[in-house]
Amino acid sequence: MLERMSFCSAVGIYRIGSIRQVSVPRLLRVTSPSVRNMAQTVKLNNGYEFPVLGLGTYKSNPGEAEQIVKDAIDIGYRHIDCAKFYENEKEVGAGIRAKIAEGVIKREDIFVTSKLWNTYHAPHMVVPTCKRTLSDLGLDYVNLYLIHWPHAFKEGDVFLPKDSSGNIIYSDVDYVDTWKEMEECVKQGLTKSIGLSNFNSQQIQRGLDIATIKPVVNQVECHPYLNQTKLIEFCREKGIQITAYSPFAGPTSIAPLHKGESPEPLKDPKIKELADKYNKTVAQVILKYLVQLGVVPIPKSSNKKRLLENIDIFDFELRPEDVSVMNSLNRNNRICDFIQVKEHKHYPFNIEY
Ligand SMILES: NC(=O)c1ccc[n+]([C@@H]2O[C@H](COP(=O)([O-])OP(=O)(O)OC[C@H]3O[C@@H](n4cnc5c(N)ncnc54)[C@H](OP(=O)(O)O)[C@@H]3O)[C@@H](O)[C@H]2O)c1
Repeated sequence: MLERMSFCSAVGIYRIGSIRQVSVPRLLRVTSPSVRNMAQTVKLNNGYEFPVLGLGTYKSNPGEAEQIVKDAIDIGYRHIDCAKFYENEKEVGAGIRAKIAEGVIKREDIFVTSKLWNTYHAPHMVVPTCKRTLSDLGLDYVNLYLIHWPHAFKEGDVFLPKDSSGNIIYSDVDYVDTWKEMEECVKQGLTKSIGLSNFNSQQIQRGLDIATIKPVVNQVECHPYLNQTKLIEFCREKGIQITAYSPFAGPTSIAPLHKGESPEPLKDPKIKELADKYNKTVAQVILKYLVQLGVVPIPKSSNKKRLLENIDIFDFELRPEDVSVMNSLNRNNRICDFIQVKEHKHYPFNIEY
């Protein structure tokens, strides 16, 4: 069934192009209608369908990640966000493959994203690193491969290479040269689509200027305290979908590297008021708000009850006045700022968006 949905908000009207419902897994047929509807997707600029909610896997520890992914797939998640940096792709892949082997899903039913870490930007490293991720996941292809950050670090398997003073060692590699090899990953069938993460508008434009295969996604921090409306609008004009990481401004992000205070939207009294009004939880109101902004949230949870809670958001709609309340909470408070590399020539957060 094809349906078009548009969402109003005080910051403008965002239309999620063509939202589509895909087949409902057997297990979900006995669950609530709202959970069934989580099979909605949005169409990317290359025609592939992208489920509007995904599962984050950062800090899903080896030892728990496989079971979390299995639980998530049983519950109905069809979009898993991974990265080499998370050091758990073997376990995440084992969870996905187990559910394919059990017949719960087919490979084509699930959207898997991975990311190229900063120490592999050198053009000759891109294809081999993507192949290593595929080998770790135990999959023939990923659906989406992202450049994790625009700034490159000294090449190698040490993710945060440091000099004797403890400063991260940079690399000169320009992400536009990395992009050409990301395109090669598509040509070799290693990934269906390619995209960006943590890129600002100028960096996106530089990439678009040389791209022969367009990025489909820019994955960025996005939550009620950093709602990214300007970047969302910029990307919408370019046909690029925003994925919202750290949708709860989650304590699992790389915030420990940041000395400032972490915002805590999950404890926000105004969001709690809305949650009571809609008979939903604060987490559900936040996720629904993000979906209504036109972005694709990827909350992480290692708890089965919260996995269920986080996808049970498709049976209500925030009214425009309540979207305005949510918009009013924005304070451009970035927690995942990677501030220690702010002098890097490709550091993304020295301009407004
Ligand atoms: N591209 C990037 O640079 C980048 C950066 C950061 C994150 N990411 C991606 O985005 C994903 C999500 O971001 P994140 O992990 O930083 O943070 P997040 O999803 O905003 O928050 C996760 C935290 O919230 C808790 N939580 C989850 N559901 C909850 C609920 N319903 N009620 C209360 N607490 C809840 C989790 O605890 P429990 O596990 O105990 O439920 C966990 O502590 C990551 O896993 C990763 O895949 C990407």
